[in-house]
Amino acid sequence: MRFVQLDTPRPISKIGLGTWQFGSREWGYGADYEHRAADIVRRALDLGVTLFDTAELYGFGRSERILGAALGDQRDKVVVASKIFPVLPVASVVQQRAVASAARLGVRQIDLYQVHQPNPVVADTTTMRGMRALQDVGLVGEVGVSNYGLRRWQFAEAALGRRVLSNQVRYSMIDRRPEDDLIPYAEQAGRIVIAYSPLAQGFLSGRYDAKNPPSGAVRRANPYFLPENLERGAELIDTLRQVAEAHDATPSQIALAYLLRHPNVVAIPGASGVEQMERNAAAAEIDLADDQYAALRDAAHRFRPVTGLAAAPKLLRARMGK
Ligand SMILES: NC(=O)c1ccc[n+]([C@@H]2O[C@H](COP(=O)([O-])OP(=O)(O)OC[C@H]3O[C@@H](n4cnc5c(N)ncnc54)[C@H](OP(=O)(O)O)[C@@H]3O)[C@@H](O)[C@H]2O)c1
Repeated sequence: MRFVQLDTPRPISKIGLGTWQFGSREWGYGADYEHRAADIVRRALDLGVTLFDTAELYGFGRSERILGAALGDQRDKVVVASKIFPVLPVASVVQQRAVASAARLGVRQIDLYQVHQPNPVVADTTTMRGMRALQDVGLVGEVGVSNYGLRRWQFAEAALGRRVLSNQVRYSMIDRRPEDDLIPYAEQAGRIVIAYSPLAQGFLSGRYDAKNPPSGAVRRANPYFLPENLERGAELIDTLRQVAEAHDATPSQIALAYLLRHPNVVAIPGASGVEQMERNAAAAEIDLADDQYAALRDAAHRFRPVTGLAAAPKLLRARMGK
């Protein structure tokens, strides 16, 4: 396993494990997934993964419970990252919610405590006052944010008066916006961009096509899985396959390796089974050649999915089975 080269109390692996899937029915993995989830965590530990990402929102606390139980006595040796869903993130609420998350996880300290998304009304000044108090009593190690733009990330740092170590954002070969400003900032300031949905929720695995879309409410609501977009993505998947073949790897592994080229980026793919976890961890070892990287980047540029408002009626029709 490779790690981010930063001065953090514990090393942070370039591939972490995302656990939204744990205890969340909307992924459609069925009741026995809870047992597989524990196996996935244990295998990740074996493979040297140190970053485990969860949130109070995932399965309304179930993900935190499943993750904490599966980590067992390894909890204090890895980096456990959770998130507060900021409905009313004033200082006192931030403190109460951290206590509740730590209890569900069974940890004395949440190594990385993140604000799940910016609150449009409550300023980060009060949120970060709560975070600072949590750090001062040792309940929180590092503070992070998620889905923040660069200016708000920097404002949050000023409000905290300390580093806000990471910004967790959607970042995959087909969502490359973080490359504009967040990643350059992370590299210059010694921060981390945590890439969520790094496989575009499985779109980049090449497993799905217009005749065989994934099931489950999460991906039914994701415009990338509209039949039209799955068709438009065929060329990109082909390029991923070609590069994968040269590395004796899979398209998913190449899609992850593409992101991990940036030294201050880590990716936290979710996994529906142990084998995926194994493959994802192995992706940290893949070094893409410059011409392979360029071919992937160009193919990604050419992919023009239907998204936003244009996708809304199509998504509705797909959900109604028409
Ligand atoms: N901060 C935020 O707002 C936010 C938002 C979203 C996610 N997240 C975090 O980021 C994590 C990852 O994002 P995500 O789950 O949305 O998307 P993702 O990691 O891009 O996709 C995960 C899905 O891809 C498939 N997959 C994983 N590894 C694979 C492999 N090696 N080969 C083939 N398919 C593979 C699996 O689905 P199938 O096997 O069913 O195809 C898996 O459930 C989440 O678990 C969560 O912790 C954070």
